[in-house]
Amino acid sequence: MPLRHFLRDDDVTHEEQAEILARAARIKGAPFTDRTLVGPEVVAVLFDKQTLRTQLSFSAAIAHLGGYPMVVDGKLAQVGVRESIADVARVMGRESVAIVWRTYGQDRIEEMARYAQVPVINALTDDFHPCQILADLLTIQEHKGALPGLTLGYCGDGANNMAQSYLLGAALAGMHIRIGTPASHQPKPEILARAEELAAEHGGSVLVTDDPVETVSGADAVATDTWVSMGQEKEKDSRQGAESPFARFQVNAGLMAQADPGAVFLHCLPAYRGFEVTEDVIDGPQSVVWDESENRLHAQKAILAWLVEQHRAGDPT
Ligand code: CP
Repeated sequence: MPLRHFLRDDDVTHEEQAEILARAARIKGAPFTDRTLVGPEVVAVLFDKQTLRTQLSFSAAIAHLGGYPMVVDGKLAQVGVRESIADVARVMGRESVAIVWRTYGQDRIEEMARYAQVPVINALTDDFHPCQILADLLTIQEHKGALPGLTLGYCGDGANNMAQSYLLGAALAGMHIRIGTPASHQPKPEILARAEELAAEHGGSVLVTDDPVETVSGADAVATDTWVSMGQEKEKDSRQGAESPFARFQVNAGLMAQADPGAVFLHCLPAYRGFEVTEDVIDGPQSVVWDESENRLHAQKAILAWLVEQHRAGDPT
């Protein structure tokens, strides 16, 4: 059985995604019953970029599963600078049952996975944020019911990791995924093509539009993300200033009113009130952002335990 990783949203099948989300829901109801990492087994958690939620939720998830989170500061490890990604992977793979990594290029985490010999989980790269999307899908499922057939409208930077992961993860779930973004910030063509393929396979659909109203019209869930992703800090003035290409895509009360009246609002956080979302929306009655944040914990416990079990089943030594 090949070693499984979670480097992008479509590294699991439709059925596996549903199984992982169901496990996450069960775990949420009985937080300390899944003891997959009892030992404690070590999980290496490495950050090359800033974090709050991801470090908290992975540390808690690993501890709840009976394991030990070995958090590694990327500034100290300097992966790919002090030594090669391959050598870091070989070292960490000998001392842990899984590796969680937040880094820049998707090629970096793919290289880690090639050499680690244990499951590798993407805790955010420039291209994807698949653990966040699992948490978001769990949140939508809790509030809106079964995912297939639901519509999710995302407004903002269509080229960032959240937009690209929504495309894959929501299409895989059989949802109708709409990305509202300016023509200058489109998702990568190969990711869009893959999302269209997944949507066709699972009964969903994909729309990329530069019309924010078309994006959210009648939607069951509306999402946005910061206009300045990690690594883009030098572009902050152009992305958030008066001439921001994303200004039309701000999720405010007027835009939210175009969605279904029962729609929920999602934001992976950190949020910048007055830019991608207004205070009345993120702090208003349709917002489920605190559930979404908590669900990182439950979703990550489920994917981590599932991957470790898959590995044990394929390599019982
Ligand atoms: N949403 C998210 O990944 O949060 P952090 O960047 O704080 O980890």
